[in-house]
Amino acid sequence: FSTGVDRKDAEVTVQGIGVTELVERFGSPLWVLDEDDFRARARAYADDFNAAFSELCGGVDVFYASKALLTVQVATWVKEEGLFMDTASGGELAIALRAGTDPAKIGLHGNNKSDEELQTAITQQIGRIVVDSLPELHRVDNLATELRLSANVMLRLTPGVDASTHEHIATAHEDQKFGLTMTPAPNAETSVAYQAVHFAASADRINFVGLHSHIGSQIFDSLGFETAATRMLEFIALLDSEGIRIHELDIGGGYGIAYTEADEPVAPGVIANNLAAHIKQEIQRLGITCPRISIEPGRSIAGPAGMTIYTAGTTKTVWAEHDGEHHPRRYVAVDGGMSDNPRPVLYDADYTAVLANRISSAQPVLSRVVGKHCESGDIVVNTVYLPEDTDHGDLVVVPATGAYGHAMSSNYNMLPRPAIVAVKDGTAREIIRRETYKDLFAREVEM
Ligand code: LLP
Repeated sequence: FSTGVDRKDAEVTVQGIGVTELVERFGSPLWVLDEDDFRARARAYADDFNAAFSELCGGVDVFYASKALLTVQVATWVKEEGLFMDTASGGELAIALRAGTDPAKIGLHGNNKSDEELQTAITQQIGRIVVDSLPELHRVDNLATELRLSANVMLRLTPGVDASTHEHIATAHEDQKFGLTMTPAPNAETSVAYQAVHFAASADRINFVGLHSHIGSQIFDSLGFETAATRMLEFIALLDSEGIRIHELDIGGGYGIAYTEADEPVAPGVIANNLAAHIKQEIQRLGITCPRISIEPGRSIAGPAGMTIYTAGTTKTVWAEHDGEHHPRRYVAVDGGMSDNPRPVLYDADYTAVLANRISSAQPVLSRVVGKHCESGDIVVNTVYLPEDTDHGDLVVVPATGAYGHAMSSNYNMLPRPAIVAVKDGTAREIIRRETYKDLFAREVEM
C-alpha cells in the first residue's frame, strides 16, 4: 500500500523489468499491471475477512467491484483467486460471464437497470440482483414471472451515512440517487426500505437474499462503515422481530488507497478486525444472529497494482501562485492525459509522478504534469517536484492508476487508448492491445 516504485540500475521496474524495455516493446503511454500484486490484494481481502469473521458470521464473500478495472483476463484472475464478481451493467456482466465466472457468484448493481439487463440476470440465475428502488423490485418480480424463473434479489438501502470523501463518490446520504431510503417520507408511516423488504420477502418469484449498503469510495475512516453496519443491523433486528430473517448483509466497498504519500490506507486485515469487533458487539447488543457478510472492494484491489508510463514531450516554465507566493512552475506535458485518467479533472484527485528512466542529480522543482488534450484542465499530476532537467523523451511514471483509469478512459481528441500490459512471474504480456487509428474508424457506418 505505498506509492513507492521499485528501481534497478536507476530505472523504475515492475518485477525487475525496466520501463524503457516496456515502452520499447509495448509503446507509450502504457498501463502496466502487476498481476501478482493484484492477485495478492484480492487474496488478502478474502483471507483476512474470512479469518476475522469465521467464528462470528460464518464466512465472508468478497465480491470484486469490477467497475474499478475489468477485462476478461482480469475477471479470470478474480475467479482463480476465489472471489465473487460485482458488476454494475449488462456490459460488465457480459465480460464476467465471458470469463467463465459462475453466475451464482455474480452480483448486478445499478440504479437504472434495463429490462434486458434484468432478463439476462434472471435467465443466467446470477447470485444476486441488487435492487435499488421499489419500482425496480416490482419490475424484477414481473420479469421473473414472465420468464417462469425466480430472481435472487438483494435490496440496496441508504443508511443515511455521510462518508468523508468527494461528493461525487459518496453514496449513502439521503439526497442522492442510490438505494432505498430507510427514512419514512413526509406523511408516510414506513420507509420505502421497509415496504420493499416486506414485498421481497413474500413475492413468489423473488428469492430474497439479503440487504446491501455502500457508503462511498476512497474512504479511510472506518467510522462510516461502522455507523452503516449499526443502522443495517438495527433494521435487521426490527425485521427479525417481525419474523423476517435476513440471511446476508453486504457492507459494500470503498476502502481508500494511497495516491500520494499524504494518504494513509488501512490494511485489509485491520479493516476486517475492526469491523468484526464492531459487528460482534452490535449483534450481541441487539440479540440477533449474524447474517453472512459480504464486501465489494474494487479500487483497493486494482488501484495500487497498476501504474501508467508516459513519455515527456514539451516542457515550459511559467509563473505560478503556490502556497500564497509567486514561484516558477515547470509544466511537463506527456503523451496521454484526461483520456487515460480523468480522475484529476473529475474529482481533483491527487497523484504523484516520478522521473522513471534515469536518476537525475538536478534539483527537484515545482512541476505540474499535464496531458496533450485541448483543455487547460487536462492535468495528470497537479503538484509534484520533478528534477529540473526532466525533458523531452524522458519517461514519467504515475503510480496507483490501476483503478478507474482504463475503466473510465475515453477517446477524447481521438487519442487511441493505451495497451494494458500484465506482469506475472517476471514476464510481461499484453492483455489489452493498444488502439489504432483504424479502431477509431471501426464504428463508422459506411455511406
Ligand atoms: N460497491 C458499490 C455498490 C459501488 O458503487 C462501488 C463503487 C464499489 C462497490 C467499489 O468501490 P471501491 O472499493 O472501488 O471504492 N470513479 C470513481 C469511483 C466511483 C465508485 C463507484 N462505486 C473514482 O475514480 O474515484
